Amino acid sequence: MKIGIIGTGAIGGTIAKKMVKTGHTVKVANSDNGDKLKTRAGELGAQPSSLEDVVNNVDVIILSLPTVAIPTLPENLFANVPDNVIIVDTSNYYPFRDAHIEDLQSGKAESVWVSEQLGRPVIKAFNNLLAETLMNRGKEAGSENRIAMAIGGDDADAKKTVADLVNDAGFDTVDSGSLEDSWRHQPGTPAYCTELNKVELRVSLDKADKDKAPAIRDKVVAELGSRTTYPSHQEIVEYNRNLFTDNQTN
Ligand SMILES: NC(=O)c1ccc[n+]([C@@H]2O[C@H](COP(=O)([O-])OP(=O)(O)OC[C@H]3O[C@@H](n4cnc5c(N)ncnc54)[C@H](OP(=O)(O)O)[C@@H]3O)[C@@H](O)[C@H]2O)c1
Repeated sequence: MKIGIIGTGAIGGTIAKKMVKTGHTVKVANSDNGDKLKTRAGELGAQPSSLEDVVNNVDVIILSLPTVAIPTLPENLFANVPDNVIIVDTSNYYPFRDAHIEDLQSGKAESVWVSEQLGRPVIKAFNNLLAETLMNRGKEAGSENRIAMAIGGDDADAKKTVADLVNDAGFDTVDSGSLEDSWRHQPGTPAYCTELNKVELRVSLDKADKDKAPAIRDKVVAELGSRTTYPSHQEIVEYNRNLFTDNQTN
């Protein structure tokens, strides 16, 4: 497929690399439009592109930006993008990074808010696994205990297309339901950054508690942030799992 990615950081960059590796044609844009972008695109095996061009002549657009940056995208960026082009949102809202966004603090599903900012439907994907998981823990389809990613949105065909891309990236998928329901895999839920297989993820999505999630998200940031040494990837995953006793593996 032809894929345009906005954001070449930990997640956007990893997605780009994986999509290139599995035969997709990828162009990327970030906040630069010069040498830094060219260098980064070269590292990823993708074409560097301006923001205006990255959305043109592609089948899928992946937005991988901090939430706070989304409303700063050029106005009418998607005005000439045909309706059948799928837009994927990987974002997660962290107040310490993204400042106070009233709608999100009041409980609006994060990707619903993103969709409103863009004036376009989005599919929520690539948000509930850490960048390290995405980079290094993918497996062949059919492998035992393959990690699964949640996909939310209102268009079943678009979700199927995105699921195929996630499969190419090395992960199973679980349909989390409508975009409205996609809070079930936001920060502070049992599905979030816990590296679950398909069966476990389905159970965790069902057990999510919308009212408790923001406090759990903020507790994770405070507790992990206050450690004197940065926890390893495995320690973070285990810490996340242990927040929800049902996810404990031992
Ligand atoms: N890191 C994770 O483990 C993880 C996991 C799942 C989901 N997410 C979510 O996915 C999103 C991206 O995360 P990340 O970790 O990849 O972030 P990141 O490493 O900080 O990368 C952010 C990217 O966005 C670009 N950017 C920022 N503002 C921009 C703007 N106004 N216009 C164009 N590009 C802009 C940056 O450009 P420059 O390169 O030019 O600075 C950078 O390439 C976030 O919402 C995050 O919460 C992260």
